Amino acid sequence: SSSGLSVPKIRARKGGAPIVALTAYSALSARLVDPHVDVILVGDSVAMVEHGMTSTLGATLELMILHGRSVAQAASHALVVVDLPFGSYESRPEQAFENASRVMRETGCAAVKLEGGVAMRETIAFLTRRGVPVMAHIGLTPQSVMTMGGFRTQGRDEADWAIIEADALAVSEAGAFAVVLEGMVEPLAVRITENLSIPTIGIGASARCDGQILVLEDMLGLTPRAPKFVRRFGTLGDAARGAVEAYAQAVRERSFPAEAETYAATQAIAPLE
Ligand code: KIV
Ligand code: NA
Repeated sequence: SSSGLSVPKIRARKGGAPIVALTAYSALSARLVDPHVDVILVGDSVAMVEHGMTSTLGATLELMILHGRSVAQAASHALVVVDLPFGSYESRPEQAFENASRVMRETGCAAVKLEGGVAMRETIAFLTRRGVPVMAHIGLTPQSVMTMGGFRTQGRDEADWAIIEADALAVSEAGAFAVVLEGMVEPLAVRITENLSIPTIGIGASARCDGQILVLEDMLGLTPRAPKFVRRFGTLGDAARGAVEAYAQAVRERSFPAEAETYAATQAIAPLE
């Protein structure tokens, strides 16, 4: 909550040093990434990654607040942004303000993120004028999975570019301090980045965006499958499986615990160390 980086500082990074962003859902993950990133997003992808759901639609306000509080308490450097979940902000600006302000009060985060462009223009303006900084999210918006009929890369047909460019302009004019560009063809992400006055943060977009974001568990190699745009910077899944296998074998052959991992009788009343 005592974030070193502020919303205006992130906003001012337009065209400058790339903004480094990662997701985190827990205090453990937040402590790991906080020294190395500019923005930590408590994404509603937590519904899929940690709660086994098939889309982000099942994330609730209570779930996001629980994870958001863990992350905001643990982070001291990065700007913490919490996703507003599906159904918590779309019906009217007042609904968005009630829920976004609750997320900010109950988690200690600095800003919220919501999905949508032109359709969210009024809501983004309403929130930003009332003290709720908004990160926007356009292109492939996972909360629209049912209307899109799946997770589809946007802008493959150049005829659709104008719609997505209008979304980008709308969120910028409404006062968003940054915008996530997800799952769109590279030249469209470049065009939006060049024409917009706020930073763009890409995921499945372009290296020329003003920043990048990935889901932490994807880039660590912990999730079983990941889309083409994910680079596996680690192989923690393999390492974790190896450790669990070794533990299981050690228990079965009674080599764990070893003498050094047990307490002798004379130490039995010593405090735990
Ligand atoms: O929920 C999430 O993790 C996200 C990022 C991938 C942008 O919205
Ligand atoms: Na999200």
